[in-house]
Amino acid sequence: MPKLFKTKVEIEGRILEQYALVEGDELPPWDADEELGIVGYPTARVDGAERVSGDARYTADVRLPGMVYTAFVTCPHPHANILRLDVGAARGLPGVLGILTRQEVAAQVKDGSASELGGVVALRYGDELRYAGEIVAVVAANDPDVAEDAATLIAVEYEVLPHVTALEAAVKPDAPLIHPSGNIFNGAPLVTERGDCVAGFAAADVVVEQTYRTAGQSHSCLEPHGSIAYWEGDTLTLYESTQHVFGVRNIIADWLDLPQSQVRAICQYIGGGFGSKAEPDVTTLYAALLARQIRRPVQVVYTRRIEQIAGGHRSAAVMTIKLGAKRDGTLTAVEIHGLTDLGAYGAWLPDLDLPALLLYRCPNARAETTGVYTNTGTFAAFRAPGFVEGTFAIESAMDELAAALGMDPLALRRKNIPDHHQLSSKAFSNYPIEVCYAQGAQRIGWKDRAKKATVPSSAVLGSSPQRFRRGIGMANQIWGGGGGPPAYATVELNSDGTVTLRTGTQDIGTGTKTILTQVCAEELGLPLAAVRTLLGDTGAAPYAPISGGSMTVASMAPAVRAAARNARQQLLDVAAQLFDTTADTLEIHGGVIYQAAAPLASVRELMQKLGDAMISGTGSRGPNPDDARIVTSGAQFAEVEVDTLTGRVRVLRVVAAHDCGRIMNPLTFRSQIEGGIIQGIGYALTERRVIDHRLGQPLNANLGDYQLPTIADVPEIDVLRIDIPDLVANPTGAKGAGEPPIIPTAAAIANAVADAIGVRIRELPITPEKVLTALRSGTGTGRQEQ
Ligand code: MOS
Repeated sequence: MPKLFKTKVEIEGRILEQYALVEGDELPPWDADEELGIVGYPTARVDGAERVSGDARYTADVRLPGMVYTAFVTCPHPHANILRLDVGAARGLPGVLGILTRQEVAAQVKDGSASELGGVVALRYGDELRYAGEIVAVVAANDPDVAEDAATLIAVEYEVLPHVTALEAAVKPDAPLIHPSGNIFNGAPLVTERGDCVAGFAAADVVVEQTYRTAGQSHSCLEPHGSIAYWEGDTLTLYESTQHVFGVRNIIADWLDLPQSQVRAICQYIGGGFGSKAEPDVTTLYAALLARQIRRPVQVVYTRRIEQIAGGHRSAAVMTIKLGAKRDGTLTAVEIHGLTDLGAYGAWLPDLDLPALLLYRCPNARAETTGVYTNTGTFAAFRAPGFVEGTFAIESAMDELAAALGMDPLALRRKNIPDHHQLSSKAFSNYPIEVCYAQGAQRIGWKDRAKKATVPSSAVLGSSPQRFRRGIGMANQIWGGGGGPPAYATVELNSDGTVTLRTGTQDIGTGTKTILTQVCAEELGLPLAAVRTLLGDTGAAPYAPISGGSMTVASMAPAVRAAARNARQQLLDVAAQLFDTTADTLEIHGGVIYQAAAPLASVRELMQKLGDAMISGTGSRGPNPDDARIVTSGAQFAEVEVDTLTGRVRVLRVVAAHDCGRIMNPLTFRSQIEGGIIQGIGYALTERRVIDHRLGQPLNANLGDYQLPTIADVPEIDVLRIDIPDLVANPTGAKGAGEPPIIPTAAAIANAVADAIGVRIRELPITPEKVLTALRSGTGTGRQEQ
């Protein structure tokens, strides 16, 4: 009989109460010195060959017989009402098979349908349009060019309304109203408080206060949002570029009032999500509804322009941080006031405040976060939403405090290491930040950084020796990533001795499929090649949670381990009956069943004997510990070189020391850390969504003008192997590594730039103009109106 537990699961700063259903006893954790043969070893991606050869079918690659293509009609105005919409001419074009307007979408979606992230459907599909580029209608045709032509024939008459696209302008009392209830999310700031900040600042010897600004960052996924839908009778199948196939199934079933059993969502490969594909979106609804109307498969894939405008982005933020400390560096009070840009329809608040509230031991803290609507595309979760912005602010401010105290910035951080989770008052599951500090500082050469900062470097012929200045900075990071239930897996032993692992998770590019295959093979005692993992299909595998919040491995690996253990036990029970012995005398290693060190039979021979009598094991993720908060933590150290003539910043080197529990696969771990750091370098130096505020128009909604880092911008990245299994967290000791590496990068780079040039840039991205302005004025705000 399954046991029922209620447990808490952290998803990107939010705590959810979940049930865990567990059959049998929880597995004992793999110890730190457990002898493992597959887990923990560098293992190439099990699907690497299909990914690089082009065999892998991403959503936009799927071609179904009779598939219909689509094109979009978008609103040219940042704020407008639809007065008249005439689709007559478009409908008359030969080859046009169907047209769906946003009002028709709203009419076909169940009244009041909402999702946690996406907000209320009716609001997002009404007559009022709230950003330039918002979708008005979708045209389906037998050919993509015909669809494009037809889209231009749709006549829309708009009533243009006043707009506001700039964050700080949208909170002014006379700003145009974006929603009838106002431009402030929930009508008021979110306030989080502990202790007494007034007393804390009164007790401080030194107080620093500064304002930091960050720009909007586009996810710029290589594969845009897309869906392909078809119906068989009243059953809907969706190929969807998504981070959560079961979420797509459940939400679409709710929106279209279908039984969950009649919706199937598939995502075998995805070209990036980074949080923007957490939920079904516009593409999903248009594809499903057009396919129902036309009775043919329909493909709806964003163009690059729409992807960059409407596909989501990290919200721009303005944060004021005030820190108080004793002479010796002990923090007495921490305050943060943040404004964050939710775009037109943001339905939740990114946690700008949490890094300031969590990173350091401080009895007095207060945060006030205000979400602001603007006439721009809606923000979406983006790799550690809020934490990246908020860490830039608090970790810049900590360096400013260190300067005011005349203290070494790392020493200041060490002085204030929290001994427990500062918001919940619970103990940490594990928090080896000192290990990260010590190893990272040693690797970057922290104690010699004063010497290094004055060494002129890149030899440019004829340039002054002082032209290039180097600096070293660091920043600290905390995140969740402990995962949790519900998460399920099944393990089937086939009659040829191979194994099929089924689980409803998805590999969003992180290596999930490889790691789960390793875990399954490890627990069964079989070679890696014997196991094939089937995921990303709600029609073929049991429930698994969203791949978000860095929680996939910590949620799924224990479920897979449990399922494999269950199958292994059945295998041994069967072997015991066949060989007339008892199961507890048997073991499996390398695909062979042994009794007291003597081989009895290979698993393959045993399964062949059984024929098609199949062994099938099931497993589920158990509850999280009640009395501990599972966190990941870490520090990054960056070395930069600033060209004082051009203002250009080059990152030379990043040392990353992250505690993510047990490292299940050093190769996929390293690629996660590198990817996060590269995305962080773009955020720090070049990336920003540029909007013409007067016209309300996006100016760089493409991959040419929006400056992503390229391989030429990638520095030497030194990923340290911290690798301390978190035995409290779950039976595998692994925690997430997806988000931690992007969190401190921009702050570490900003601190290194300040170290290099002696003035601080408090606004991201740190562009050459800002560097030159800062160098000229010596004040360091480098403020620049976008
Ligand atoms: Mo979240 S930004 O989907 O990991």
